Amino acid sequence: MNSLNVLGIGSSMREGSYGTMTLKILLDLIERYEAKTRLLDLRELKMPIFNPDSSTGPDMEIQKMTDEVSWADAFILVSPDYHGSMSGSMKNFLDHYWEEFAGKTFGYICTSHEKGLTVMDQMRTAVRQCYGWSLPYGISVNGEEDFNEMGAIINGLLDKRLNILAHDLVVYGKLIREQFLQDISNDVSDTFAARYRL
Ligand SMILES: Cc1cc2nc3c(=O)[nH]c(=O)nc-3n(C[C@H](O)[C@H](O)[C@H](O)COP(=O)(O)O)c2cc1C
Repeated sequence: MNSLNVLGIGSSMREGSYGTMTLKILLDLIERYEAKTRLLDLRELKMPIFNPDSSTGPDMEIQKMTDEVSWADAFILVSPDYHGSMSGSMKNFLDHYWEEFAGKTFGYICTSHEKGLTVMDQMRTAVRQCYGWSLPYGISVNGEEDFNEMGAIINGLLDKRLNILAHDLVVYGKLIREQFLQDISNDVSDTFAARYRL
């Protein structure tokens, strides 16, 4: 694998979302490493509520999203803290996928006034349930304190943490993805990846 494909998911419906602003900054930092990035802003995509009974087949918006999810080797999930939980749009996004997340690495950002640890834990739980791998830490953003009116980060610690996350996601994401793909392509049966062989 020459470069890692990283997909950032923004899940705030708010115009001027601090989370989506932070995600854009992070994706730029990730580009400094051997990685390509894309942004999927759920505010713009108008994803239908997941319906397991849907018989009409995937609509255009979902197909577009599925193409992006399949392209990705690693993800950044970004959610506002809503009552200690992830946003409904993030949960809905996660509900649409399962095997597509296996063997891929996830990083987390939560915009919150209270660090958003429960929010990131919930996203991590959903990802684990889909056999995705998570970085052991996440980043919390407290919008009004961390940004100025121009949309620039004024908290040096946040700046540093984003740089660390950019580095770690690419380095660990690549290791995990390469091993997963290698395990799929060989004929060893006692591996985590074996069940994902076609
Ligand atoms: C319905 C709702 C519930 C919220 N619940 C919490 C909460 O439990 N804890 C918290 O710290 N902030 C809470 N907030 C504040 C948002 O998490 C905060 O404004 C965040 O910056 C929004 O992210 P965004 O700028 O990316 O949209 C809540 C906001 C809304 C609209």
